Amino acid sequence: MHDNSQSGSFQAGEGVSREVIQRSKEFLLQNYARADVVFERGEGVYLVDAEGERYLDCVSGLAVNALGYGDADVLEALREQSRKLIHVSNLYYTIPAASLAEELVRHSFADRVFFCNSGTEANEACIKFARRWARTHFGENKTGLVAAFSSFHGRTMGSISLTGQEKYQAPFEPLVPGIRFARFNDIDHTVEQINDNTAAVFLEPVQAEGGVHPATQEYLKAVRSACDTHNALLVFDEVQVGLGRTGRLFCHEHYGVEPDMLTLAKPLAGGLPIGAALLKQHVADAIQPGDHAATFGGGPLICAVALVVFRKIADPQFLEKVRNNSALFGGRLRALKEQYSAIRQVRGMGMIWGVQFDEPAAPIVAEFRKRHILACVAGPNVLRFLPPLVIGEEELNHVADVFADILEAR
Ligand SMILES: Cc1ncc(COP(=O)(O)O)c(C=O)c1O
Repeated sequence: MHDNSQSGSFQAGEGVSREVIQRSKEFLLQNYARADVVFERGEGVYLVDAEGERYLDCVSGLAVNALGYGDADVLEALREQSRKLIHVSNLYYTIPAASLAEELVRHSFADRVFFCNSGTEANEACIKFARRWARTHFGENKTGLVAAFSSFHGRTMGSISLTGQEKYQAPFEPLVPGIRFARFNDIDHTVEQINDNTAAVFLEPVQAEGGVHPATQEYLKAVRSACDTHNALLVFDEVQVGLGRTGRLFCHEHYGVEPDMLTLAKPLAGGLPIGAALLKQHVADAIQPGDHAATFGGGPLICAVALVVFRKIADPQFLEKVRNNSALFGGRLRALKEQYSAIRQVRGMGMIWGVQFDEPAAPIVAEFRKRHILACVAGPNVLRFLPPLVIGEEELNHVADVFADILEAR
């Protein structure tokens, strides 16, 4: 049964999508380039549109829906906590926030957690925490930040200032001053940017939006060492690649390099908005009451749901399955590269995969959609797959089979 209570007098079936798209174009700010499809519900790893058509989802709400759609435990947590308490201010304590913070700390390098509402906010918080820490210990001049070209850290002013891509920055200048950019995976160039006035270096261990580029281990080790030499903090942005996406709970576990702070967001609350900054104690010690805040940050409903999501993702068996499925899917993609010269490179880990072409990847995304599979791009020439972490072998093989058909038909 369709519930049409939100769609005025319109009935489900032919034409609903057209009408919704039309109204969206009329009333919503046109800041997104959306595909012409209206999604109404989700079931497992499938999305169903307003016409009842099913799509295999390899986007996951941009790395958010790690457990797919309709996870029974997530729904139960949502139901139970929503009856008890949805929001109370940060003037008081709540059980879900304490439990989630404890769980994050017990499973990570960190000693303290700050909750906010999104990835960009988590990065903004870390900019402030880094500057606060640097000023406390080293005085007024240690305000510099270093980030990488091709990075992506979010859309608020601090985060776009850290995002080393002109298209995100140029229209909104002037940016936050004092940020130097390094060539990702170029040790010499990156180390050159770090000096005694650097408060923090921000890096994604795998650059996601920038084209699915994993850091090398030598690179992250060298950056860690340069940070230590110059008393600078190392901040990993794992908003997209943390929480099981790469087959480990935290992406940096692949590298054996620990940050001083880490940002998380996307999948943590099962599709509800959340961001988190994880801090080592020595950074946390510099933060005083009143230094930072978020009205909705760490609310009981969000944290109760996140606790369920986090426990599921942190289960070693869950992560092992992600790694096994990753080996299967990565193997299929690499085999396609051998077979089809249009594919320049295949890069990825866990359930984030980028397929590099010499030409725009958007038409391939459209071909997939015609065949009822959702994929996306990461930069102009990279096709990106971000399936729910719970996707199975059968569906992954289907995606690879359809990809072969698309490449064959070109
Ligand atoms: C690595 C990374 N950092 C930060 C963000 C921004 O997160 P949000 O959109 O939740 O602000 C994103 C979003 O794609 C991201 O991929």
